[in-house]
Amino acid sequence: METFFYKIVIQMESVEQKIKELTAALHAHNYRYYVLDQPTISDYEFDLMLKELQELEQAYPQFRSPDSPTQRVGGSVTKSFAHVRHEKPMLSLGNTYSEEDLRAFDRRVCTALGLEQVDYVCELKFDGISISLQYENGVLARAVTRGDGVQGDDITANVRTVRSIPLRIDAVGLPPRLEVRGEILMPHQAFERLNAERAEAGEPLFANPRNATGGSLKLQDSAEVAQRSLDAFIYFLNTELPQVHTHFEAVAQLRKWQFKVSEHTALCHGMEEVFRFIRTWDEKRRELPFDIDGIVLKVNDLQYQKQLGFTAKTPRWAIAYKFKAERVCTLLKEVTYQVGRTGAVTPVANLQPVSLAGTVVKRATLHNADVMRQLDLHQGDWVYVEKGGEIIPKIVGVDLSRRPANSQPISFIASCPACGAALVRAEEEAAHYCPNHALCKPQIKGRIEHFISRKAMNIDSLGEGKVDMLVEQGLISKAADLYDLTYDQLIGLEKSYQMQDKERVVSFRDKTVRNILDGIARSKEVPFERVLFALGIRYVGETSARKIARHFRSMNALAQATKEELLTVEDVGEVMAESILSYFQEDGNLQTLYSLSEHGLQFEIKEGGMSGPDGTGAGNALQGLRFVVSGSFGTPQRRKEIEQMVVEHGGELLTSVSSRLNYLVAGENMGPAKLAKAQQLGIPILTESEFLQMLAAEK
Ligand code: IVH
Repeated sequence: METFFYKIVIQMESVEQKIKELTAALHAHNYRYYVLDQPTISDYEFDLMLKELQELEQAYPQFRSPDSPTQRVGGSVTKSFAHVRHEKPMLSLGNTYSEEDLRAFDRRVCTALGLEQVDYVCELKFDGISISLQYENGVLARAVTRGDGVQGDDITANVRTVRSIPLRIDAVGLPPRLEVRGEILMPHQAFERLNAERAEAGEPLFANPRNATGGSLKLQDSAEVAQRSLDAFIYFLNTELPQVHTHFEAVAQLRKWQFKVSEHTALCHGMEEVFRFIRTWDEKRRELPFDIDGIVLKVNDLQYQKQLGFTAKTPRWAIAYKFKAERVCTLLKEVTYQVGRTGAVTPVANLQPVSLAGTVVKRATLHNADVMRQLDLHQGDWVYVEKGGEIIPKIVGVDLSRRPANSQPISFIASCPACGAALVRAEEEAAHYCPNHALCKPQIKGRIEHFISRKAMNIDSLGEGKVDMLVEQGLISKAADLYDLTYDQLIGLEKSYQMQDKERVVSFRDKTVRNILDGIARSKEVPFERVLFALGIRYVGETSARKIARHFRSMNALAQATKEELLTVEDVGEVMAESILSYFQEDGNLQTLYSLSEHGLQFEIKEGGMSGPDGTGAGNALQGLRFVVSGSFGTPQRRKEIEQMVVEHGGELLTSVSSRLNYLVAGENMGPAKLAKAQQLGIPILTESEFLQMLAAEK
């Protein structure tokens, strides 16, 4: 017996050690990838290590450190963000658009300090959301938004998912309390991907990366924030340190502590160097993978900063120079309309190609009928196109002096450009919709493209072009038709088509056909939550699909759910509930569902499966076993966690002790009657650690 316990102690120690090693290694790889941009292992290896750590932490939660890299994937849900008072007010900066104003700022600074010339640090002005990060003993303890400058929102759980923000700083001489400030932003690539996904889901688009960042940081589910690929730059050390005398030194210190600090920071001696920096970046900003909207100028010497002090709202030692938005005028050739998979119709302005801020602009979205009406576009108009801090061009107005006489206003179309059906517009909705869901081609294609997409059924052997062709050939008109496709139907198909202004040819040879059919067959194993997402029910995104799947556990149960039941699921509001109800009322959808189920797609949660945030099962160690968890385990939370572990590992929870019970997990002070009954029935009674041992046994 003694050796048994000895073994357990050894095992626990080595588990703790392993968790520590994995944690440290992941922190280091994370830093190399997200801050230095110099990874030394593949994404796959990184994911494997992270998964191993996740599994160990799940089995031995007592060894998880609060700054574990697993926190990056999020998971905690905040109902409403707590308001927190900033220790020192979080000020904004004075703005200017002209060199003249900047010279005036410099004169004010020099006069106040009694100097001829001052050193400034020039930095990029990141166009995102500012954040205060507080570290306690090196661990990220709190992340607070600027709010009104005096108090902001505590969004720590969301900020922990931003991978370039260190969760822990390992350094000697680190002050026990440290505050830094910086900007969270969304890089262009992530922004475009997010908007493309939202367009597909029929959700409103974010106007620019800054709004998308703000919207993401306000999400209640941090797991969803983790998907948004946010980034952050730190530009301000708000804690005094004896060895730091200048802002430039502060920036170097931040970099040493492994914060992501922009490399495009310059120490400028006098205004001529400042203007050189500004001119360089007014040009080069287009090459950056994120938006900046200007340059920030800061007096370098911290003693001088103190001397200069603050006005009520802004520091006197810093100023922002904002870039002017670039604007050109070009001819509006025509307005065309695109139909999305949900039937939403988007107007697009087709322009005479014009060069603007380094790219040739040919098209600009007009968003919806309201935007079009506000612009009051007429046939043959010359329009102003602008690119500000953001990368996406927009039409900001019309040059009325060039409007041709008697030109007619352009009004939003009344019928679908693809199928001719009369468009509808629901009250309080910005978009017009084509109601002909069953027959309208772009909608059919869009739905199938969504169905096969990576986060849905992940049939990557099919793509936009191939779907287009299969629909055009009349081989498929709904997702379920994919499962009826045969080798003979596909082999030899060839067609050229136009996509994004390029001529492309798809030809289906033996290998292509086999790949397609394999991919389709494999998709039958895709878990229920993703099947649900793949159906493309309006407003049901990836995360809500997961939550709904977990709640109802089968398509059948979901199809029969009432509105009230739907509303009990976290994240499901009125609009989504209505949309789900109406999906299950449409005959066409029911036919598709019937046929998908006949083809063997996953229409329910596999027992013991789908417990991790990504739908990966935690394991089946407790498959077929029934448990009661009773008594207290330190915190009320812990008991819930144990119960959750039972379910996650395939076990079943009972509420009372009976002969059906296999194990009783007993904490302190559990009811004597329950305990006596279990003993009488000869039911094994486990402590918390014995229970954890049982889970670990499956690994
Ligand atoms: S310094 C007291 N540096 O611009 C120090 N701010 O328009 C205040 N910003 O609220 C901030 N890049 O959100 C500073 N390199 C940079 C910045 C920067 C972007 C934002 C920040 C601030 C806003 C003022």
